[in-house]
Amino acid sequence: MTIPIANPTISEKAKARVEAVLDSGMIADGPEVRKFEDEFADYCEVEYGVATANGTAALHAALEALGIGEGDTVLTTPLSFVATANAIRFTGAKPVFADINPETYNLDPDAATTVARKHDVDAIMPVHLYGLPVAMNPIQDLASDLDIPIVEDAAQAHGATYGGDPVGSLGDVACFSFYPTKNMTTGEGGMIVTNRDDIFEAASQFVNHGRTESYEHAMLGHNFRMTSMAAAIGRVQLDRLPEFIETRRENAAKLTEGLTETSVATPTEPDGLKHVYHQYTIRTDSRDELQDHLDDHGVGNNVYYPKCIHEQPAYDGIKVTAPKGEAAAMEVLSLPVHPSVSADDRNWIIESIQDYDTE
Ligand SMILES: Cc1ncc(COP(=O)(O)O)c(C=O)c1O
Repeated sequence: MTIPIANPTISEKAKARVEAVLDSGMIADGPEVRKFEDEFADYCEVEYGVATANGTAALHAALEALGIGEGDTVLTTPLSFVATANAIRFTGAKPVFADINPETYNLDPDAATTVARKHDVDAIMPVHLYGLPVAMNPIQDLASDLDIPIVEDAAQAHGATYGGDPVGSLGDVACFSFYPTKNMTTGEGGMIVTNRDDIFEAASQFVNHGRTESYEHAMLGHNFRMTSMAAAIGRVQLDRLPEFIETRRENAAKLTEGLTETSVATPTEPDGLKHVYHQYTIRTDSRDELQDHLDDHGVGNNVYYPKCIHEQPAYDGIKVTAPKGEAAAMEVLSLPVHPSVSADDRNWIIESIQDYDTE
C-alpha cells in the first residue's frame, strides 16, 4: 500500500449538507454560495468574498476587476502552477517573471524590484507557494512605490499568516483554489477575497456574465460561478480547516525532525510566518533515484513543478532570467504531509529516506 501524496476527506456532515442543497432545488448559484463567501472572507479577515468555479477563474476575474488587460504587464514567480501566469495571459496582459529565493521557493523581493522597475509593471502577483507566505513587506513597499496593486495567488495557502495577518488580507485582492489536493476542497472551486468595494463589484459582475441586474449586462463577463453543492462542501471544510492545518504542521515538524540528518534539505519557516504545508517539499540533487526508491517503498511523492512556467512549451519564446527557480525545479520533491498521514506513515517516510542514504 502506498501512502498517497494527497487524500481529501469529505465528512458525513458535508455529505448531508450537499443532500440538503440538492433537496432545496437551488443547485447552481444561491444562498449557500453567499454564506460560503461571507464565511471565507471572515476567515481571511476581509470584507468580501466572491466564489468562483476554480482558482484560475478567480485569478482571471481578479485581474479583470483591476482593469488589467491588453498592453499591461504583471510580475509573478516562475516557480508556480502554470495557471498563475495563464490567468495573466487570459486578460491579454503579459506576465514577466522574477527569480525566487531558494530558501523559501517564493518570489525574491530584490529580484522582483529589479524586474518591476525594468518592465514598468502594472501589478504584482506573488504566489504563496506550498503554503508559505511570500516576504510581503518588501513586496508591499514596492507596490506602494510604484502605485500598483498586489494580487495574491493564495491558491495553496489557506490559513497561512504573515506577521499574524492571514494571507488573503495582504494585498488588494487575493485568490484561492479548492482543488481536491488543496488544504480544503470543494471538488473544483475558487474564491476571490478583497477589502475593496470596487474590486468586489467588478469581480462579482465579471464571474456572472457582466450582470448588474436580472438581464442587464454592464460588461463582457464569463460564467465562472460556483455551484451550491460545492459551497456546501466548502463550508464544512472551512470549519475543519484549523484542525487540518494543525495536523499538517505537526506532520511537517516530525518529518523535519526525522530528516535533518539525511541527505535532503527540509523546508524552512522564516520567523513571523506561519507555513500551512500544502506541500512538504524537500530538495535533493538525486531526485530521480530518490523517487524510484520512494515508489518502491510505497511512499507517494510528486514534483511541484518539474519546469518553471517560462520553460513550458506554452510559454515558448519568453526570455527570463531565473536560474534559482530553474535549479529548484530540477531538485524539489514533495512528500505526503496531509492530515491522513499517521505517525507510522511519518516514520516510514523518514526510514525510507534514511535507508536511501545508506544504500
Ligand atoms: C499556485 C496556484 N495558482 C493557481 C491555481 C489554479 O487553481 P485551480 O486548479 O483551482 O484552477 C493553482 C491550483 O491548482 C495553484 O496551485
